[in-house]
Amino acid sequence: MSSNSQIFYRQYTGESDLPRIMALVQSELSEPYVIYTFRYFLHQWPHLSFLAYPSDPDNSDPIGVIVCKQSMHRNRSNRGYIAMLSVDKNWRKRGIASALVRNSIDAMKEDGVEEIVLETEFDNLAALSLYESLGFIREKRLYRFYLNGKDAFRLVLAVPPSDSDDSSDTSSDPSSSLPRSSTLRCPPYRAINVIPYSDDEDDYISGR
Ligand SMILES: CC(C)(COP(=O)(O)OP(=O)(O)OC[C@H]1O[C@@H](n2cnc3c(N)ncnc32)[C@H](O)[C@@H]1OP(=O)(O)O)[C@@H](O)C(=O)NCCC(=O)NCCS
Repeated sequence: MSSNSQIFYRQYTGESDLPRIMALVQSELSEPYVIYTFRYFLHQWPHLSFLAYPSDPDNSDPIGVIVCKQSMHRNRSNRGYIAMLSVDKNWRKRGIASALVRNSIDAMKEDGVEEIVLETEFDNLAALSLYESLGFIREKRLYRFYLNGKDAFRLVLAVPPSDSDDSSDTSSDPSSSLPRSSTLRCPPYRAINVIPYSDDEDDYISGR
């Protein structure tokens, strides 16, 4: 468990966490997830999901949660996916979501993740800004992706292999200053052009 300005983070431990995770997610995300969706992620990838607490986890309710998965994508890349992220309204803008995302990224790196993707509503400025501050880029716009009819942005983070993945010692090799071949294997993501969001419906329609 790690702490940061009296916020504690721990991995999902089992079904007893489920009601509070569901409460945190259902109060904040527009998409209506059923319990089976939560179990799909939490039972298969419990080590990728984290909860944030304001004090001793045994004596308080969680104030933030992240739920993820990780699998091979089309036999091509080891892909992490952030399915849900929510921080209690009273605890926002204190770095809690950033810390939760970093915890999950670190756990995915343990399993050799190469890219991490997620979707968020096209006008969720808090989420877009959070993920972009962590290095994610907007890869695609997905038309009417959500049940509420809103478009989504697909965001992606390319994860270069960590130094510890490189077993060969290249310190005496003059070519060691070149990018490692495994780094070059990272998919060549290109950010899409984004028209800034406007609350003015006419601006938005004319801008598309
Ligand atoms: C999005 C959300 C998870 C952010 O949680 P948070 O703990 O407040 O985020 P952090 O404090 O870690 O913010 C990190 C960065 O994100 C950006 N950010 C966060 N909230 C923001 C807001 N309301 N407006 C603009 N940028 C924001 C900022 O760049 C911030 O860095 P800064 O504090 O140095 O400016 C939270 O607002 C939330 O739960 N929203 C509802 C659920 C949701 O939208 N989930 C994401 C779905 S993909």
